[in-house]
Amino acid sequence: MNTTKACALVTGSSSGIGKAISIRLSKDGYHVLLHYNRNSAGVEDTLGKIQAAGGTAEVLQFDVTDSAAIEASLERWVKGGEGRKIDVLVNNAGIHEDTLTGLMSDASFDRVIKTNVHGPFFLMRWCIRKMIRARKGCIVNVASLSGQTGNAGQINYAASKAALIAMTKTLAMESGSRGIRVNAVSPGLVQTEMISEIPYLEEITKRIPLGRVGTPEEVAGAVAFLCSPDASYITGQTLSVNGGLFPA
Ligand code: NAI
Repeated sequence: MNTTKACALVTGSSSGIGKAISIRLSKDGYHVLLHYNRNSAGVEDTLGKIQAAGGTAEVLQFDVTDSAAIEASLERWVKGGEGRKIDVLVNNAGIHEDTLTGLMSDASFDRVIKTNVHGPFFLMRWCIRKMIRARKGCIVNVASLSGQTGNAGQINYAASKAALIAMTKTLAMESGSRGIRVNAVSPGLVQTEMISEIPYLEEITKRIPLGRVGTPEEVAGAVAFLCSPDASYITGQTLSVNGGLFPA
């Protein structure tokens, strides 16, 4: 790792929005810790793109639902070199398992909450301990419009993203006095694998004031802004990136 650079950990960087955030933060001068769980080809592609553009990055693997694995992996990384620390954490990894409430299984509810709520909690808890000691740091959580407005067929996902927004506000209150900022971005519909199975996508798109779904790069731009000095007086906020769809 190049210790002169600030370091950003991006979860779920093997695809979609996480890939775009990783590439963008690298362009902004960060050394990027590219986290993935199963998609090693995807994360290698992200790494290749960053390196081809002259950036630096390295790969970390863990399941965000596994607290012990997260701690072991991050402690191993910190001990692996002089002066290693995480300046920016982006909690991007997330899943959805959509069905109507009456049809949803306990397991499906639990899986989504475990990945989208426990995962970011485990990562924020590990990072905040270090950031408080360093008296600086920045965290950005990738929430969702569903967490702001609710969404039919997403009782587990909407609950998880609403929780993530509440956790963002809470940690901002706890850590602001130590120079740490904690914010969320809240995408609407973004062109990734995640929306490939959405029924009536064309109909929904017609209701978006900007007339189209967003790109992963547009979400990455909002994350980059929140990580930048331009956002130095912004904490505890949720920045909607939704083309004007049902603004909260
Ligand atoms: P994606 O499916 O391409 O990315 C999700 C990432 O999370 C993947 O890299 C996956 O490996 C990782 N992940 C899932 N479970 C994991 C686990 N247990 N441990 C470690 N990593 C795990 O989808 P997309 O669209 O890029 O989503 C990224 C984030 O953006 C998610 O949090 C999602 O909820 C959020 N989002 C996406 C929207 C969209 O329209 N695509 C809209 C609103 C929010």
